[in-house]
Amino acid sequence: MKLLEYIPVQERVYVTDIGVQACNDSRKTLNRLPEGSVDLVITSPPFALLREKEYGNETQNTYVEWLHTFAVEVHRVLKDGGSFVLDLGGAYERGKPVRSLYQFRVLLDLCDNIGFRLAEEFYWHNPAKLPSPIEWVNKRKIRVKDSVNTVWWLSKSDWPKADVTKVLAPYSDRMKKLIEDPAKFYKPKARPSGHDISKGFGNDNGGAIPPNLLQYSNTEATSSYLRRCKTISREGHPARFPSELPKFFIKFLTSPGDVVIDIFSGSNTTGRVCEDLDREWLSIEERRDYAALSVVRFTSEDMSTDKLCSLVDGLQSGACHSIPAPFRQSLFSTLCEEANTGSILKEYSTSKDMPKVVTYDKAPSPPKKKRKSRSIATDAKYTPLKRKKAQA
Ligand SMILES: C[S@@+](CC[C@H](N)C(=O)[O-])C[C@H]1O[C@@H](n2cnc3c(N)ncnc32)[C@H](O)[C@@H]1O
Repeated sequence: MKLLEYIPVQERVYVTDIGVQACNDSRKTLNRLPEGSVDLVITSPPFALLREKEYGNETQNTYVEWLHTFAVEVHRVLKDGGSFVLDLGGAYERGKPVRSLYQFRVLLDLCDNIGFRLAEEFYWHNPAKLPSPIEWVNKRKIRVKDSVNTVWWLSKSDWPKADVTKVLAPYSDRMKKLIEDPAKFYKPKARPSGHDISKGFGNDNGGAIPPNLLQYSNTEATSSYLRRCKTISREGHPARFPSELPKFFIKFLTSPGDVVIDIFSGSNTTGRVCEDLDREWLSIEERRDYAALSVVRFTSEDMSTDKLCSLVDGLQSGACHSIPAPFRQSLFSTLCEEANTGSILKEYSTSKDMPKVVTYDKAPSPPKKKRKSRSIATDAKYTPLKRKKAQA
């Protein structure tokens, strides 16, 4: 699908050859898209928090109705095999150490009244989350730190497109040993739980099946997005999710070339991930300042501060920018970095504007270090007494 055709020029903020950052109320933009045309909508809306965010948020009383108006449109534009992934943080009721049920009410509404299926519930654990509310957690010490968001994976049909092999987790050291020599570690037998653990358990499948508890620290204080915002003296978006979160679902639920939308795009974390993974993307953000600033995720690292400043100012005041293809060269360095840190890379496509990308099924092993030749005189393993004996 050529998403750009559905976005009027005045709503475009910047475009790449596979994506569009739009500025609008996302309901209006979704409304223009054809039915059954989208593979995945992944998003993190403003939560029903008591402390109001800079970009405003709906109250707990009106939240379900408010989100419903977006979800109806999401349901319409999704393909039959499409998914809607919704990240919702928890909240307390006003003035009481009692949790709001708003994210569960949203779930029931979307399933009971719109027809979504709950494909699976996920939990995102952010170990870096600060304790809050201060009154219940820090002062009175009657509640623990809330560091888990619910992430509802909803689907339009019972059989959404999904492939766990795209998101396998690295094996634990114990599992690696077991794969090396299964016979040494266990005997096939029925477990007390009734599971019959067969010999196949020791097969190397390239990684472990991940659980529905995803752990990503939201500590992007040193991220290139924030660094670049700082160089042009702008405050970054105040509520970004870590790129690992959309990356997991985009790899799991879509293939290269599929269409992915974020309907509350903020700093456009999702668009940037899609660009790296070669998914067609549309990010919709209501506030032009956030949408304009998110261009820093797409500009080359060596663009001068003055140029970047005037680019962001221009976009904020209504211009639209087309990201030139050479920016994709930065994708090349991302790939190399990922390969060196051990990610499994299979699905990136190359573009003629990019240097050739080497894809690895497994990360290349680092060059072997040359063993230093040992000298009796300097080697620490020799005590003075041993050294004397060895020399004799
Ligand atoms: C929690 S933030 C999303 C942050 C994003 N996930 C990121 O990583 O940067 C929610 C965003 O939704 C935007 N928003 C609120 N109502 C909207 C609407 N009707 N249409 C589009 N965006 C909206 C807010 O301005 C805010 O930037």
